[in-house]
Amino acid sequence: MPKFITFEGIEGCGKTTQLKLLANHLREKGYSVYETREPGGTLIGDQIRKILLNPENKNICSIAELFLYEACRAQLIKELRVGSRESGVRGNDKEFILCDRFIDSTIAYQGYGRGIDTEIIEGLNMIASNDIKPDITILLDMDVKTGLARARGRNINVNVLQSNLSESRFEEETLDFHEKVREGFLKIASEEPDRVKVVDATKGIEKIQKEIIRIVEMEQKKIAV
Ligand code: TYD
Repeated sequence: MPKFITFEGIEGCGKTTQLKLLANHLREKGYSVYETREPGGTLIGDQIRKILLNPENKNICSIAELFLYEACRAQLIKELRVGSRESGVRGNDKEFILCDRFIDSTIAYQGYGRGIDTEIIEGLNMIASNDIKPDITILLDMDVKTGLARARGRNINVNVLQSNLSESRFEEETLDFHEKVREGFLKIASEEPDRVKVVDATKGIEKIQKEIIRIVEMEQKKIAV
């Protein structure tokens, strides 16, 4: 069965870069790796992603938003067949699956950020993910102001280059919202220290990468194959 590693953190924490670097590192070591992300990762999920991130949809109600994230997840897990022993299906014939955001983002954003009861979200997460938990979760932690400044710079660049749909609906939320999201992530990490590893995201790309590789190598020994 593939080892399932997720990357989490606030906007602009650099998780997408670090996911790529880890994927490259693992491939160089000869492992097969499947990269995916939430929301998205499937044809249906990518369509739902557009609804979720479109700034024009700022009136979406929290519950509708929650269900859309869970819908994305259900589709992703169904298509990946993580946890099934079937071979030859997406993701499952790989040794590693790396996912940019997963269940913890829903607890942090919809639970701590939006204020939806986290027990309800845990139940929905369980249904959508078929009760699959990551083997390792890398939480890239940094202060909210720095993260948002980075994320805003990134979106401006993307928009200038591609005159694309701005993916900034969450980046337009208040500082207070993002503080709650960060607190949520840290709370999850304190409750599940075996799975969730907190990495200081302010350290510089190479140092962070080394730390993530060290964590994965250490944890790999503990993960049942
Ligand atoms: P994305 O552009 O992928 O942002 P990032 O690069 O920061 O991951 O957008 C994903 C957004 O969706 C991000 O703001 C976090 C949010 N999100 C939730 O609110 N709940 C969730 O369950 C997930 C997976 C993401």
